[in-house]
Amino acid sequence: MPAPTAASALPHVVILATGGTIAGSSDSNTDTTDYLPGAIGVADLIAAVPEITQVAQVSGHQVANVASSDVDQQVLLTLSRRITATLADPQVHGVVVTHGTDMLAESAFFIDLTVRSTKPVVFVGAMRPATAISADGPMNLLNAVTLAASAQSAGRGTLVALNDRIGSAYYTLKTHATSLDTFGADEQGYLGLMVAGKPHFYFEPALPTGRPSFDIAGLDRLPRVDVLYAHQDQGPELLDAAVAGGARGVVIAGSGNGTLTESLKQRVQELDARGFPVVRSSRTHNGYVTPKAEGIASGIHSPSKARWVLALALARNEPLAQIRAHFGA
Ligand code: SIN
Repeated sequence: MPAPTAASALPHVVILATGGTIAGSSDSNTDTTDYLPGAIGVADLIAAVPEITQVAQVSGHQVANVASSDVDQQVLLTLSRRITATLADPQVHGVVVTHGTDMLAESAFFIDLTVRSTKPVVFVGAMRPATAISADGPMNLLNAVTLAASAQSAGRGTLVALNDRIGSAYYTLKTHATSLDTFGADEQGYLGLMVAGKPHFYFEPALPTGRPSFDIAGLDRLPRVDVLYAHQDQGPELLDAAVAGGARGVVIAGSGNGTLTESLKQRVQELDARGFPVVRSSRTHNGYVTPKAEGIASGIHSPSKARWVLALALARNEPLAQIRAHFGA
């Protein structure tokens, strides 16, 4: 066993907790579906993994304690500013964000777009609550802190650490409703793997091609962007309702290559002519949606990630051509 490192010599990692299953609790240790997410505080999460003190000096702060479906834009704006301020401290080496897995991919993506630091930011969650047999949260948290403390993690954008995998927040999606090995990026693969408690990266630091970066200074609210899900027989009614209801942009999770029904396509073309942005993404959650006559093609972005790109671009009143360019078209 290696000799323990003096605590003061270890990198300082700040853990910002937002809730989710990693902080979930149930009366039964076999309950992995009906537990209460966001029930345990950050101090208890850290106390449950004393091994963390061998890899980093950690301090924990509670930003929220909710299911990730309730991590809204206000929480994300607060979290983004908090991360930026935390990383500006020369004593801080990196940040870990504990988060529910359901919306982790899009929250980590939002942070990737809005935090401008080369220091590591690592999102982590768990598929089993803290009270379950073989809960995955403690090892995931230890891995995330190890990753945030590692010099190798710098300059790679926001990372996602679950089930020993190291993913890029820009590309990673949740791919399975209940399995522990749920986060992945089929097309782009993983950045690396946690091997015997150490990050092993497959590549030298590199950022995703074309990744936009948004300044959120002075922004208190993001414009409303709605997401619609494609289905057979779909007409323009929900799109019309979104526009009438105050949405400044809409993302459609289209079928296949962002395909829309004929009647929806026509309405999108009418909205194009009025300068109202409609992004065509894909409900298949994978692949690259290519440009067509109607709307803006989402490129590699899933519907929920395309929503954040569009909202952040609209917040800066960017013209359609500039918005289009963020999606690679
Ligand atoms: C949530 O996303 O908050 C609940 C589900 C999870 O964390 O796995």
